[in-house]
Amino acid sequence: MALPNKPMGELKAVKDPEVVEKEVDILIVGGGMAACGAAFEAKKWMTDKQTVLLVDKAAMERSGAVAQGLSAINTYIGTNTPDDYVRMVRNDLMGIVREDLIFDLGCHVDDSVYLFEEWGLPVWKKDAKGKTLDGKKGLEMGSLKSGAQPVRTGKWQIMINGESYKRIVAEAAKLAIGDENILERVFIVELLLDANKPNQIAGAIGFSTRENKVYILKCKTMLIACGGAVNIYQPRSVGEGKGRAWYPVWNSGSTYYLGMRVGAELSMMENRFTPARFKDGYGPVGAWFLLFKAKTLNGLGENYAVGDAAKKELAKYAPYGTAAITPTCLRNHLMLCEMKEGRGPIIMDTVTALAELGKTMDKKELKHLESEAWEDFLDMTCGQANLWCATNTEPEKKNSEVMPTEPYLLGSHSGCCGFWVSGPDFKWVPDAYKIKADNGKIYNRMTTVNGLFTAGDGVGCSGHKFSSGSHAEGRMAIKQMVRYAKDHADFKPALKPNKAELVDIVYKPVRTFIANCAYTTAVNINPNYIKPEGMMYRLMKATHEYGAGTATYYLTTSKNLEIVMELLQTMREDAEKLAAGDLHELMRCWEILHRIWTVESHLRHIQFRKETRYPGFYYQANYPGQDDKNWFCFVNSKFDPKAQKWDTFKKDYIKIFPDK
Ligand code: FAD
Ligand code: ADX
Repeated sequence: MALPNKPMGELKAVKDPEVVEKEVDILIVGGGMAACGAAFEAKKWMTDKQTVLLVDKAAMERSGAVAQGLSAINTYIGTNTPDDYVRMVRNDLMGIVREDLIFDLGCHVDDSVYLFEEWGLPVWKKDAKGKTLDGKKGLEMGSLKSGAQPVRTGKWQIMINGESYKRIVAEAAKLAIGDENILERVFIVELLLDANKPNQIAGAIGFSTRENKVYILKCKTMLIACGGAVNIYQPRSVGEGKGRAWYPVWNSGSTYYLGMRVGAELSMMENRFTPARFKDGYGPVGAWFLLFKAKTLNGLGENYAVGDAAKKELAKYAPYGTAAITPTCLRNHLMLCEMKEGRGPIIMDTVTALAELGKTMDKKELKHLESEAWEDFLDMTCGQANLWCATNTEPEKKNSEVMPTEPYLLGSHSGCCGFWVSGPDFKWVPDAYKIKADNGKIYNRMTTVNGLFTAGDGVGCSGHKFSSGSHAEGRMAIKQMVRYAKDHADFKPALKPNKAELVDIVYKPVRTFIANCAYTTAVNINPNYIKPEGMMYRLMKATHEYGAGTATYYLTTSKNLEIVMELLQTMREDAEKLAAGDLHELMRCWEILHRIWTVESHLRHIQFRKETRYPGFYYQANYPGQDDKNWFCFVNSKFDPKAQKWDTFKKDYIKIFPDK
């Protein structure tokens, strides 16, 4: 149920919160695209007796990566084929992907897009003459499902008027499971394994960010879909702009933390996404490259991405570098080469692009084109439109700078870190890609922990799902979860720690604060605790300088990695002393802990993979270039919750779909 907004100021935390205990069959953690897909689909497969609960740290209407809306749906198969979709993702992610997961998603993703349109999302269409009809006019051509042609920007992307995208998707999810089965503004801090059955998920603990309440939730099966990890590196934005990042600042790596802490195997955590974005406003570039056909120029006004020098550089990374579409990391790599060699900054030539498109347009059409350029940002990243206003930038008159941002960890966009999950139980899927549950059955999208599933940013080795794919993957996962709950109808989840111990875990930062805050006059400075803000600066400084952040043009060395791992270890120890005076700060404490663990797993993987698989996203000075002979494989890792130890290891890559 939605809770009202806060009154003035933050809500003070008390030492002894109220405790709410709930037990359901199916627990969905997160309220973003994947979770909304899961919620929408759940009841279709559940029996009347089965129960479900969704828990989101924020309000579903505007939570997660789609909070501000989007201007495109980046995965729509349409007249393409799922096996070609596999080839595209494989090429973009430098060869090492789970083709079973990608193909499977490609078979289902369009169904979610049809639903979005049915629920009211305006999808741009082409009329009989090939002209664009946007907004409501798009419907004049009928729906996508009935065969209308979308406005393709690239081979896979279609344009929408998406400011209210998340509201539309959340409304359908809420209607499907009912408000009474939703907890909003509840932050999940830890997952719990069953007290009796080894490696079986049994519940989660969290707290309300609006009331002094701790939640103890038990379940038979659980979906973790808390998005990716943002603000794990020093962002380029500073001062009052620091709240701005490209990916959603609220997603703090909870997906990865929650799963890894109960022993779920991670895969490809070394992969990251350092997107090129409009400088300072973080406006996405896709529509500019694909829809408006804009070019990026170096500081000398040259189109550095074409020509012999670029070809020579890209050839080093064949077959990916020489493919028809240059992989995202290599596009960044070319940009970084220019910047490092003194030919920066990089400029998006919006002026020429709009002038070229305008050549065949009348005045009215031209005006419409200009408003589309604004709408791209107003629908998705309104801060970028604000920045254009603030800097007197009219894109038809003044070009904008583009800059590679700080790194993000995600599995749904142009990155592929996440969990190692089971593929679908089809004959063509290699056994090595199937995870057998305790009963010997295969459940698609289940992690290596029995009953624990994930989707969207949580599923590793299979990026380029975007909003539509994350929604579809949530739907695919929940169907299997319902089946899992039915197959385990007799399972009664039991938690090892008692109620008081669980509350102590969740409210520890509050209790640390209350016990020590009277010791000093300045509440943020105290020898007995550290506030989350201080910890955030420590984390960002460490990863920025040693972990291949923007400080070093994404370059790290083996020695730097050793140093940052030691710093992170100390941070984890010091995190025991995190302190929270109010509920917002309590959330910040848990967020920073989730971030520390997540970025540690990222760097642990980079340390293990002794090559530079993704130039443009990060570089290892000691291991430049790709080493296919030794590293054309997945890197997986597992934290053993009992022994409190990490294990990092290789897993074979299996090619399923031949090159064309
Ligand atoms: P999210 O949708 O981010 O959902 C995560 C959810 O988890 C949120 O509800 C959050 O509140 C909740 N949560 C987090 N931590 C906790 C916790 N500890 N406890 C409880 N709940 C928690 N895709 C496209 O298709 N087209 C585009 O044009 C496009 N453009 C984009 C532009 C921007 C600026 C951004 C940020 C993303 C864009 N994407 C686009 C990508 C797309 O939004 C994501 O791929 C997709 O939303 C990922 O879905 P998800 O469910 O994994 O995560
Ligand atoms: S967004 O999700 O934040 O809008 P972005 O603008 O990077 O991301 O990309 C949107 C879509 O366009 C993605 O499918 C991405 O792979 C694609 N894309 C972006 N730039 C290019 C490019 N230069 N060439 C080909 N595809 C691109």
